[in-house]
Amino acid sequence: MKKIIIGKYPHLLHGGDYNPDQWQDCPEILKEDMRLMKAANCNEMTLGVFAWSSLEPQEGEFDFSFLDKAMDDIYAAGGRVILATPSGAKPVWMAKKYPEICRVDENGIRSGAGGRHNHCNNSPVYREKVRIINEKLAQRYKDHPALIAWHVSNEYGNSTDVTECYCDNCKKAFIEWLKNKYKTVDNLNHEWWTAFWSHTFSSFEEIDPPSFNTDMAINGRNLDWKRFISDKYIEFLSIETEPLRRITPDIPITTNMMEMYTGIDYREMAKSIDFVSSDNYPVWKNDESDIDTAVKAAFFHDYMRSLKFKPFIMMESTPSIVNWHNYNKLKRPGMHALSSLQAVAHGSDSVLYFQWRKSRGCSEKLHGAVVDHYGKEDTRVFCDVKELGARLKKLDEIVGTVTNAEVAIVYDVQNEWALGGAQGYSNIDKKYQQTLLKFYKPLWKRGINADIIGVNDNFDNYKLIIAPMLYMVSNALEKKLCDYVARGGTLVSTYMLGIVNENDLCHLGGLPAGKLKEVFGIWNEETDTLYPGETNSVSDNSGKEYFAVDYCELIHTAGAVTIATFTSDFYSGYPAFTLNRFGKGKAYYIAFRDRGDFCDDLINKLINDIGVRSAVSFALPSGVTAHSRTDGENTYVFLENHNKSEVSINGDFCFGNLETGAKAENFITLPSVSVTVLKDINRGK
Ligand code: GLA
Ligand code: ZN
Repeated sequence: MKKIIIGKYPHLLHGGDYNPDQWQDCPEILKEDMRLMKAANCNEMTLGVFAWSSLEPQEGEFDFSFLDKAMDDIYAAGGRVILATPSGAKPVWMAKKYPEICRVDENGIRSGAGGRHNHCNNSPVYREKVRIINEKLAQRYKDHPALIAWHVSNEYGNSTDVTECYCDNCKKAFIEWLKNKYKTVDNLNHEWWTAFWSHTFSSFEEIDPPSFNTDMAINGRNLDWKRFISDKYIEFLSIETEPLRRITPDIPITTNMMEMYTGIDYREMAKSIDFVSSDNYPVWKNDESDIDTAVKAAFFHDYMRSLKFKPFIMMESTPSIVNWHNYNKLKRPGMHALSSLQAVAHGSDSVLYFQWRKSRGCSEKLHGAVVDHYGKEDTRVFCDVKELGARLKKLDEIVGTVTNAEVAIVYDVQNEWALGGAQGYSNIDKKYQQTLLKFYKPLWKRGINADIIGVNDNFDNYKLIIAPMLYMVSNALEKKLCDYVARGGTLVSTYMLGIVNENDLCHLGGLPAGKLKEVFGIWNEETDTLYPGETNSVSDNSGKEYFAVDYCELIHTAGAVTIATFTSDFYSGYPAFTLNRFGKGKAYYIAFRDRGDFCDDLINKLINDIGVRSAVSFALPSGVTAHSRTDGENTYVFLENHNKSEVSINGDFCFGNLETGAKAENFITLPSVSVTVLKDINRGK
């Protein structure tokens, strides 16, 4: 069954951020944009991002003329509009008149006008101004045929200057948030363990936000502050969406998320929007690092899709270069289509760009765009875009198809907050995300769909759950993991499992927390953190050698079978990898960080043992991956060739090429740096 996210226009979207507000004195350019939009095979424009000073040039004086014209013109040219609310950048007049909308840094310095994504979320004035402008936009365009979705604000959290606000409004809101959570200050003192260093609070009013000026030693407070910041973004989002939902109940709402950004709990935020949208700016270097870049991008797309378990919109990507990498390298031929269709393979129902036309001045004037300052269509980038647009038209039946995954990786941003804030292990970098990718890459190489799930998601849909470095485990999560294995699931976890509870208090009575010791049949006594470059060696029962880096845990079995042991240093002979049968399931514990080869062998073995299906029935050559989407009847397979050379594959398969209609039976050739989209004729579902 399909899940259509934009019901009013169920097509693959191709277009992007368009700023006619910057070109009001150039009517010929605005006219040319409409011609070029059609020529580029685009069908969508995202309007209004950062347009507040054009829409409301002075307080209470509104001017929608540029937007009226753009909406009409785009529709007349056959396009549709995702309309942004303008709160991503506040007008100068507003910041001057109401300084309270500007953030205050931890030293008490209030920022001035300008920048972007830097308003105070708890400012009553800003909230009210946003409500007014959003209501006006909704009223004005509610019946406009071009309007297909709302894009609220832009990249919440991506501040140009002060990332968190310490103003009085925010301090008060933090205290209210704490009162609501803990009810009594005694309770808070207990959960934050404040007798440590004489940190006991005698009232909620004494509590400041954590900062290097107060102190960062109360881990529970640091964690709650992050939760508070995240919650207030989500609350702010709900202020923005209230008029939109009331006035345009049928127009779906999104806000764009920023790859692996950790300042907001996106899983929580996703509950307040109708569909997820995201940015996508991989750093392609045209060298061997591109495979890891592809793996990272794939993981991120899967994460976005798994936030609502339905297709998402890739809201921004660059048609050529960005301007904010240290070195802004061009995408090589083929890479534009590959990078874009990779997102579609993982669940995007769009390829949208930042930006349609290069701005003439200011900091993004050298950022890539579909239309260059040159202004014409005979450029390499424009041709790439046009060609991809033509391909997307032929792939339209993909829209709304879903991804079925039998494997999930647990990625919990709150766990990342707690782990990142813990003093201990390595204080340079705990490498949580990199570790997740080590487990994800073997799946990617084998063409296996994976969901990236949170600790509150349903576990029962998966044959295999991989939960590395799950440091923060509440009692509820402990039980959920036990139940999953008891009912027959296969669970893989690693060092640092179940060290603290949801308020960052350490679990007592041995690690990992509570009953997890029984589930894994082990207990963990100590953790050795290795210096960079140092290794320990690990050998499995068949004699195969691996290297441990960064972390080695000194665990003891208590029911589990040892499959691999450490072979050097004073803990030589200690278990390094174990298996325990618990209830109807299996629990694997990895007591060390490996260099990637161990993860690869393990995942390979597990998917064979458990019978996890790949998107294709044949072995994938190196540098080639496959992912699938389905409408419940048909399976669509995306074969990506990341190699710089053509690759041919033989096997027992029968595909129809979705673009050309050609049949590929038992043999297929994949051009270099390409994506081939196929319908699986053999397999059906
Ligand atoms: C972000 C922003 C855009 C633009 C691009 C540049 O994603 O949302 O406004 O600044 O980066 O890559
Ligand atoms: Zn504030």
